[in-house]
Amino acid sequence: MKLKILAIETSCDDTSVAIVDDLRTVLAMKTVSQLKDHAKFGGVVPEIASRHHEESILEASFEALRMANLKISDIDAVAVTSCPGLVGSILVGTSFAKGISIALGVPLIFVNHIEAHACSCLLEHRRINPPFLSLVISGGHTSIIDVENYNKYVTYFYTVDDAVGEILDKVARSLGINYPGGAHLDKMAQFGNKNKFKMPVPKIQNFSFSGIKTWALNICKNVKNDEEKNDLSASLLFGISEYVSEKLVNLAKSFGRTMICLGGGVAASQTLQSVLEEKCNLRKINLSYPSPKYCSDNAAMIGIRAILSFNE
Ligand code: KG4
Ligand code: ZN
Repeated sequence: MKLKILAIETSCDDTSVAIVDDLRTVLAMKTVSQLKDHAKFGGVVPEIASRHHEESILEASFEALRMANLKISDIDAVAVTSCPGLVGSILVGTSFAKGISIALGVPLIFVNHIEAHACSCLLEHRRINPPFLSLVISGGHTSIIDVENYNKYVTYFYTVDDAVGEILDKVARSLGINYPGGAHLDKMAQFGNKNKFKMPVPKIQNFSFSGIKTWALNICKNVKNDEEKNDLSASLLFGISEYVSEKLVNLAKSFGRTMICLGGGVAASQTLQSVLEEKCNLRKINLSYPSPKYCSDNAAMIGIRAILSFNE
């Protein structure tokens, strides 16, 4: 009999509920996005986020069960994001999950959101198993994690200041593009000259992006036309992709890892994917990235992170 897990993600601005089985099949996923509620503020407002999670979580859960054609009594375990994230938003998800697990008498599994992003490729690729190296790159995180087995996740690099997505959103905003602007900048980068502006490369051992942010925001003040905006997008996105990809493949080589997985919203960047793919091909490393619906925050990745360790 297949194990079915009800997975809940409410750590930021998406209320997401999924049902995943231990064959890595996503039986259903319902995500309620709050994007338009935060866009006018230029970023996520924590108090608004938790209120919206409270309003959406019950209906999203019913909808996921309906889509999977299951009853709540068919669920064998409940998984929920417990950290990191917005405290009020996490409280809504964990309280709700705890209630279901007590009512059904099934296990409750707390999941680390970044580890879940690190595993998101596994939802669509059954042949991928640990060990592998993962780059989690999103609006809140930029980390390289070594997944040694389903219960051992070791972080080797993490940003000491801003995350990459956060910078892309701030630069986009300064160019008059609505929040979140990362995907838009990524499209503009395809038309720009990546050598027009020279991005400074941080010299510290860990990841740092605040200097890159200051550099890009200063250029924003003087860009005159769409051509220059495209050039800045290309210089920024290719520069960041080079910087993170180089660290990633070097670490993979030094650990003898032959598989790299991407996760997080910025993993959908065509620029990042193409730069990294080239480096991986040269060094004979396999590369995998999730389809866009599993790059951004979603409950299916919470389910897969939980069910794989549950079975280990
Ligand atoms: O993982 P995610 O949905 O939420 C966080 O946990 O942060 O990531 C959102 C981030 C935003 O900064 C957004 O601008 C960026 O991912 N993003 C992209 C692309 N799609 C989303 N950045 C670059 N290229 C994309 N195609
Ligand atoms: Zn995330």
